[in-house]
Amino acid sequence: MKRLVILISGNGSNLQAILDACERGELNARVVAVISNKADAFGLTRARRANVHAIWKAKIHSQERRAYDAELAELVSQYEPDFVILAGWMRILSSAFLDTFPNRVINLHPALSGTFPGTHAIERAYESFQRGEISYTGVMVHLVPDEGVDNGPVLAQEIVPIEKNDTLESLEARVHRVEHRLLVSTLQQFFEVDVNA
Ligand code: GAR
Repeated sequence: MKRLVILISGNGSNLQAILDACERGELNARVVAVISNKADAFGLTRARRANVHAIWKAKIHSQERRAYDAELAELVSQYEPDFVILAGWMRILSSAFLDTFPNRVINLHPALSGTFPGTHAIERAYESFQRGEISYTGVMVHLVPDEGVDNGPVLAQEIVPIEKNDTLESLEARVHRVEHRLLVSTLQQFFEVDVNA
């Protein structure tokens, strides 16, 4: 059974999808800790409700990125995770974190590989659609080898169509539905073929 530490910054609906899949036995994994850089992230409440360690790891204002990342790596290491899942984690991680977990950090992004990296990806895809530049967007799950933003070896991606009468809200809901399913199914498959198991 894989031990997962999940990093979040907000609502945690993807964390919930993982917790539910573990609970139902669909994912051969256990969430051993949830860590947020935001105190008010609802995902921390979801973790507590599931009896999972829920930790707010604040960044001190003056703290260097690498110093925070090194502390974060130490905190995560205490839980001895097989994998670290970034499920709506909205901070770039430097090598001060990533080098501790080579090939062990997996990110979810609400866009296709190479498109709309960073924040507000769904909103930017929606605006791009309005301008007639794209007709679909997507979701991807990928490994995080380095500091590249929402970029790395793709484990899975899926197209999400954009409809003419979509609002931003209806598109967001469609993207999130795909995320919840794709994240869990990708982890399922990836854990099965994990050579380091
Ligand atoms: C998700 O859409 C996830 O793909 C995105 O944040 C959202 C978190 O939702 N991540 C990124 O944009 C990473 N660049 P959630 O907190 O409800 O799971």
